[in-house]
Amino acid sequence: MSKRCVYFIILHTAFVSAYNWDQLNLPPSHLPFYFKNHPDVDKMCREDVECPFQEMTGQDKCWGYEPDCDKSQHYTNPNCSGDKRGWYVGKKEQEHKFWSTADFGMLLERKNELTMYCKPHSKEDSSLQCAKYLRYCKATNIYLDFSSKPITKGNERDRYREDILGPGLVGGHCELDKAGLRAQGEHKSPLQSWFAEMQHFSSLPFYPSKEENCDIVFNKPTYLMKLDAGVNMYHHFCDFVNLYASQHLNNSFTTDVNIIIWDTTSLPYGDFFSVTWKAFTDHRIIPLSDLDGKRVCIKDAVFPLLARMRYGLYYNMPLMPGCFGSGLVKAFSEHILHRLNVRQTGPSKEKIRVTLLSRNTQYRNILNQEELLKAMKSDEELEVSVAEYNRLMPFEEQLKHSHNSDIFIGIHGAGLTHLLFQPDWAVVIELYNCEDPGCYSDLARLRGLKYITWEKKDKLKQEDEGHHPTLGAHAKFTNYAFDISEFMRLVYKAADHVRNHPEFIQARKRKSEFKHENIVKQEL
Ligand SMILES: *[C@@H]1O[C@H](CO)[C@@H](O)[C@H](O)[C@H]1NC(C)=O
Ligand SMILES: *[C@@H]1O[C@H](CO)[C@@H](O)[C@H](O)[C@H]1NC(C)=O
Repeated sequence: MSKRCVYFIILHTAFVSAYNWDQLNLPPSHLPFYFKNHPDVDKMCREDVECPFQEMTGQDKCWGYEPDCDKSQHYTNPNCSGDKRGWYVGKKEQEHKFWSTADFGMLLERKNELTMYCKPHSKEDSSLQCAKYLRYCKATNIYLDFSSKPITKGNERDRYREDILGPGLVGGHCELDKAGLRAQGEHKSPLQSWFAEMQHFSSLPFYPSKEENCDIVFNKPTYLMKLDAGVNMYHHFCDFVNLYASQHLNNSFTTDVNIIIWDTTSLPYGDFFSVTWKAFTDHRIIPLSDLDGKRVCIKDAVFPLLARMRYGLYYNMPLMPGCFGSGLVKAFSEHILHRLNVRQTGPSKEKIRVTLLSRNTQYRNILNQEELLKAMKSDEELEVSVAEYNRLMPFEEQLKHSHNSDIFIGIHGAGLTHLLFQPDWAVVIELYNCEDPGCYSDLARLRGLKYITWEKKDKLKQEDEGHHPTLGAHAKFTNYAFDISEFMRLVYKAADHVRNHPEFIQARKRKSEFKHENIVKQEL
């Protein structure tokens, strides 16, 4: 080959990107971890002058679930400086417990559990691999036959009927460990495991990889999901955080995937937060009822971790006391905000941005809301706003507002789940926890935020004993008025925390430097 020709080839490869780098679409701080887990993509970026992420490549980083991942290279590590509150564990165990139940360590445990329950012997074969109790499964060339039993029967109200996939109706062409698979039923429950759906997994005499055996073929990677509750942010984000965690298990975050919602009714699914799906897929969410009467073959299927697993994230989770800051939950927050294009516009140079969440529902309203607002507004250092998060405000707008709240104040209720999207330096004030103290203080701990709640019960007025149509008297079903000066004491405590948070100080500094630079440029 002549020298000239070689030269031409180099130029050519140098200026045509083989890879569409935009499609990674990950928060910049996540890229070194992504590259570390994808050596082929890392190499491609280093060799491509058009790759905008050169600096992110070749770093020694790991989320925490990779083999040989040293603690010093972790994305973050939890802070366990707090009291163990009677849990009989040493300091090391305390840290380990938090890490392995509520952080990336939990994914390491699931990864270590992965067992091949149906073994392929050729490329055309199928496979089924699951974690313990079938809390997470991954399958290739899986066959799901909905042609003999209707998925949605008339007035059926059970979202997770078990009689749909009998023997021979779910399976693959592979060598089945039947006894091993059937022994995983201990967590059989719709939102705890995939056991009910997979228990009849059969070794089939035909190939689901051959199109003549299928009415519908899904060639794209496909997630099948059983959802908790689309109308409640606390519960629905349990679905999303587990989907995100499952993407880590496969280390794949592409949005060119299908999502099928496993629901055995034809009831409409109320979903106030549906825009969040955009962070996971570019395509329409597919209801199971679309597959009614069909023999379905999926080339690459993932059955993600579920929202109500025992000791799962984060519903009803016994969270190790004394620790805060799950890297997994922080990464989830950053991932969602990045993909929904929600940006941090602060911090403000002089002010602390405070949001008071107004519920306007039947119960748990703040009776003297106007007085609380007036008290806060009289302080010039506080930039106060009221948020009414309802269907009139698009969910992205809500997230934008929450992400730009240094202090977020609300009474017990699912709206407090917005704390997941506050900045790292923020404080959440659960004005009153209505005798449910663990729920949002644990969520704040997971997210690594400072949590404050009402401390002096004699400085709060409960309208009445509570009146729920079926549950009767309970602190959650009434309204409250709060003592103003005690309220302001908590607000000032929160403002102090924000002001002294190292990340807040740094962010303020960065912002004023950036402004200064721009002013200098303009003057020139
Ligand atoms: C952990 O948190 C405590 C309390 O907020 C703080 O004083 C300490 O500096 C933190 N430790 C580390 C290693 O960040
Ligand atoms: C899981 O990872 C593999 C390997 O990177 C990829 O080919 C596949 O599409 C991924 N599956 C999903 C559902 O994202």
